Amino acid sequence: MKVLVVGGGGREHALAWKLADSPRVEKVFVAPGNPGTATFCTNVPLKVEDIAGLVKFATEQKIDLTVVGPEIPLVLGIVDAFAQKGLRCWGPSKAASTLEGSKVAMKEFLRRHNIPTAQFRLFSRAADAHAYIDEADGPLVVKCDGLAAGKGVTVAKTAAEAKAAVTRIMEKHEFGKEAGKQVVIEEVLKGEEISVFALCDGRNAVLLDYVQDHKQVNDGDEGPMTGGMGAFSPAPGLVSPRDEDELVRRILVSTMSGLVHEGRPYVGVLFLGIMLTDSGPKVLEYNVRFGDPECQTLMLRLQSDLPGVLEACLDGTLDKVDLEWDPRTAVCVNLTSKGYPDKYPVDVPISGLDAVKDAQVFHAGTRDRAGQLVTAGGRVLSVCALGKDLDAARAAAYAACDAIAFDGKHCRRDIGKRREARKAR
Ligand SMILES: Nc1ncnc2c1ncn2[C@@H]1O[C@H](COP(=O)(O)OP(=O)(O)O)[C@@H](O)[C@H]1O
Ligand SMILES: [Mg+2]
Repeated sequence: MKVLVVGGGGREHALAWKLADSPRVEKVFVAPGNPGTATFCTNVPLKVEDIAGLVKFATEQKIDLTVVGPEIPLVLGIVDAFAQKGLRCWGPSKAASTLEGSKVAMKEFLRRHNIPTAQFRLFSRAADAHAYIDEADGPLVVKCDGLAAGKGVTVAKTAAEAKAAVTRIMEKHEFGKEAGKQVVIEEVLKGEEISVFALCDGRNAVLLDYVQDHKQVNDGDEGPMTGGMGAFSPAPGLVSPRDEDELVRRILVSTMSGLVHEGRPYVGVLFLGIMLTDSGPKVLEYNVRFGDPECQTLMLRLQSDLPGVLEACLDGTLDKVDLEWDPRTAVCVNLTSKGYPDKYPVDVPISGLDAVKDAQVFHAGTRDRAGQLVTAGGRVLSVCALGKDLDAARAAAYAACDAIAFDGKHCRRDIGKRREARKAR
């Protein structure tokens, strides 16, 4: 079969790598891909937003299965556009993707179906939001309605901070006019935050093995939030059996049946952002795609045939699939550019990739400049390794990180150490 992966980051490199591993797959295209995918796939110079171009390409090339990495094409309706042409595209429909595309739509969905989440109010006028903040007592979370590349949420300690967030979203339109038309203001939830992934075929959902990620840029969870500095899987003890039971019954099953009930069944991977509170797990948000770098660790450990699993999502036959996982631990460490997540330089030459042993390096933000691999993004390389336990996986991943060199290279040194750090406190 011929497969097309949409996207060009570490997540998509890992998906393409796993798809190419299947004996059923003859050819993998990646749009737009990166220098890493270019080594074993055919990169196609199409942007992820270019839905018409992607439909045309998939039609001409008779692509059997298209796999979408990022949220933007999903929210734009890529799955619907492909389906109209009789093309198989793995991911949620446009209607189901509003769970990520609009925080207002997400919160209203949660309320309609009585799914545990933070208490909230919605505002479409800045003045009303300001008045509410003035009256409310204590910290609040302010969320921009539309996609904001992970920067639209402020967990405000004071009213002044909350009001500043409203101003940025609704008055200065920092995330665009449309995205900032409404805000969600909600209570601050306390507890441990986890990400949970489930494959869905419309009616059935299967939890994937647990992954824990590390969002802050520096060791010890210090510094600003990033798209993700690293992850590890499995994460034993992360979720208690009782929390898991509640999570499945009150959140996952209710989400799936709620969407079926509303005529927009969910197909693809559902990413649940969960806070494990004293009164049980609550939904912080939904995402309609894999997390990056969580996906990299999952692809390293998945032993089932990936195209078969994704086709089962499309066919509604996930109940017949038993996912098999490598029992070993996978660790992913992201190498980032100096300054990330703020301003960072690009076009910095990268060396040492040839010296990497016992690790899998996925490209995240790299570019080929006349035969020289150079940096092209904040997150540059996703360095992943398997080990018999967490220590062995960490050792292999960090040995590879040390073999790679570029000016200003940064990584966290404590990926996988969070639980130990917690216990020590
Ligand atoms: N109600 C809440 N209480 C406490 N922290 C929150 C709450 N909502 C969001 N957060 C924090 O803010 C982060 C970003 O919010 P999220 O809803 O995941 O939006 P996005 O990922 O789109 O930026 C979360 O990962 C979490 O750490
Ligand atoms: Mg989030």
